[in-house]
Amino acid sequence: MLKRTLLAAALFSVSAIAIASGGHGEKPQANPWTHFSLDNQIRAMPSGDATRGQDIHSQMMCNACHGEKGESPSRNYASLNGQPEAYTIKMMLDYRDGRRWENYHQAEIMVKISQALNDQQIADLASFYAQHKTQPWTYAQPLAAAEQAPTDKVVRKGDFERMLTPCASCHGAKGEGNGVVPALAGQVPEYFVRTMKAYQSGERHNDVQKGMSQFTHDLSDEEIQALAEYYAAMDRQ
Ligand code: HEC
Ligand code: HEC
Repeated sequence: MLKRTLLAAALFSVSAIAIASGGHGEKPQANPWTHFSLDNQIRAMPSGDATRGQDIHSQMMCNACHGEKGESPSRNYASLNGQPEAYTIKMMLDYRDGRRWENYHQAEIMVKISQALNDQQIADLASFYAQHKTQPWTYAQPLAAAEQAPTDKVVRKGDFERMLTPCASCHGAKGEGNGVVPALAGQVPEYFVRTMKAYQSGERHNDVQKGMSQFTHDLSDEEIQALAEYYAAMDRQ
């Protein structure tokens, strides 16, 4: 009898979570950002507290996937340390409001977890990650010499023929990011490749007015892989 009651209680809480979060397919419909609406939203956020952010990071078990300070110990998960506050805030709002829904199987946890957070908690988390600098990805390998020069050229000079704006002109000379432009230094290469391909296919379209995805269309798989390894090894010091 007790067993049955426990089972019923467990099933009830699972379906309650499913209902509360909408489940896959019942995607919240938020309007795409404009530069103006995004700017207003970021300004309207409460200011974050890094100490509270650290507590939320461990209480909500963000650390289990993203590492103690946001430096992901796993090839599966993005690193969050050193991200500008505005970028982390934008991502959490994008997951929460259904703007970022790509790769659902892997990111389902992000959609559900962000729906459990209020604006103050999101701001606190963003402040915590911003406090820690990026660092080279633990398992980063230096790029082979043959790939270093052409990759460095795409990053610093771009490619006029393909209308590729240098990555560094937005993401910073040291891959440090700025505002809603993410840091790339030390990012986990598997995540980097996955997300670049999601921009390329249009599956990830939470960037404002294709501000990012337009630069992915003419990149080959090999170039994306090399860019991922280039940034993974980048040291901001
Ligand atoms: C079970 C593992 C898991 C947990 C727990 C988790 N995440 Fe994530 N997170 C992921 C995965 C996987 C992705 C990347 C999804 C993808 O590839 O599309 C991600 C992506 C993110 C991103 C976007 C990163 C970027 O560079 O765009 C942010 C921000 C983030 N998580 C914050 C958090 C916070 C804050 C918490 C706790 C409240 C949390 N995550 C808990 C697995 C997790
Ligand atoms: C005009 C500015 C601009 C240029 C040039 C640019 N980016 Fe971006 N990039 C952005 C913005 C803004 C975002 C965040 C978009 C969003 O909100 O999803 C972004 C996101 C990304 C992400 C996702 C990071 C994450 O944590 O999820 C990667 C990877 C990336 N850019 C790599 C590159 C590379 C490599 C280049 C050069 C080939 C490049 N970018 C050129 C503005 C730019």
